[in-house]
Amino acid sequence: MILITGATGTIGSEVVRLLAARGVPHRALTRDPARARFGPGTEVVRGDYDDPSSLNAAVTGVDAVFMVTAPRAASPGAHDLALLAAARAAGVRRAVKLSAIGTGDPGIGPGGAWHVPGEQALRDGPLRWTVLRPSMFASNLLWWAGDIRAGRPVPDQYGGGAQGVIDPSDIAAVAVEALLTDDHHGRTYTLTGPETLALSDMTTLLGKVLGRDVPSVDVTEAESRAFVRSLGIPEEAVDGVLEGLAYVRAGHNAIVTDEVERVLGRPPRTFAQWATEHRAAFE
Ligand SMILES: NC(=O)c1ccc[n+]([C@@H]2O[C@H](COP(=O)([O-])OP(=O)(O)OC[C@H]3O[C@@H](n4cnc5c(N)ncnc54)[C@H](OP(=O)(O)O)[C@@H]3O)[C@@H](O)[C@H]2O)c1
Repeated sequence: MILITGATGTIGSEVVRLLAARGVPHRALTRDPARARFGPGTEVVRGDYDDPSSLNAAVTGVDAVFMVTAPRAASPGAHDLALLAAARAAGVRRAVKLSAIGTGDPGIGPGGAWHVPGEQALRDGPLRWTVLRPSMFASNLLWWAGDIRAGRPVPDQYGGGAQGVIDPSDIAAVAVEALLTDDHHGRTYTLTGPETLALSDMTTLLGKVLGRDVPSVDVTEAESRAFVRSLGIPEEAVDGVLEGLAYVRAGHNAIVTDEVERVLGRPPRTFAQWATEHRAAFE
């Protein structure tokens, strides 16, 4: 039995889909089972990191857990530690944690520390563990789907900084491999797509798929700050997020690795493939 946290989210929902397709028993955690939509083969459980006692039922009878830290949480470390405490007490054997590229690098600012407590707790044992540190998700472009549909330019928060943009389905596929065997125990994988892309490269590639121009535009720091605030990020965390964007602007996240291919035995999917599959969201 595999427990998937963040099961309604970007990567977790894809992990659910892949496990269901392989016929692996699995349980999807959400704060609101009434709102969640899963197929008949998926067991659903209510759980909330902010209510640690709710996690005990979720981990009962579980062999492996996929750990997703809620984005923009006030205390992401506490969320991971609450889940791991429940998992340890229930005798869960294995955990795969969705972390982020560059975790622990002080140059990223506070955002670089979000996943540190959870990663460290895994390394301290006793569970078998794998840490996944993906680069920017291709799906982040969906944040601007409304602008793109309306023909408005996409504001480039990354200032032309390139990143090893990755298709979320590749992250989920790696997670499933790590959840099902001990072959990836003790490994920290930095997961990227096959090429580094600036936001303007992504919009150009999407434009080719849509058959029309998809412009992007540079933004000032004040505009970037307004955008970050609009995501609902707590005021005290806004400067930290901007520090992370400055890190990307300076080119420090222009990294490509071969770790997706080493785990899956095939190259990572391209941004153009992702854009083709998701074109309806932008039309
Ligand atoms: N976006 C990127 O480019 C990127 C790159 C690298 C790493 N990451 C990491 O990926 C992770 C996921 O980010 P995302 O933006 O894609 O989010 P997401 O997984 O799409 O959505 C967040 C998930 O967290 C769950 N959740 C929120 N608060 C919760 C709580 N209190 N208790 C239990 N579950 C809770 C939500 O479930 P319910 O609402 O159903 O309860 C939802 O499934 C983050 O940790 C982020 O650091 C993102």
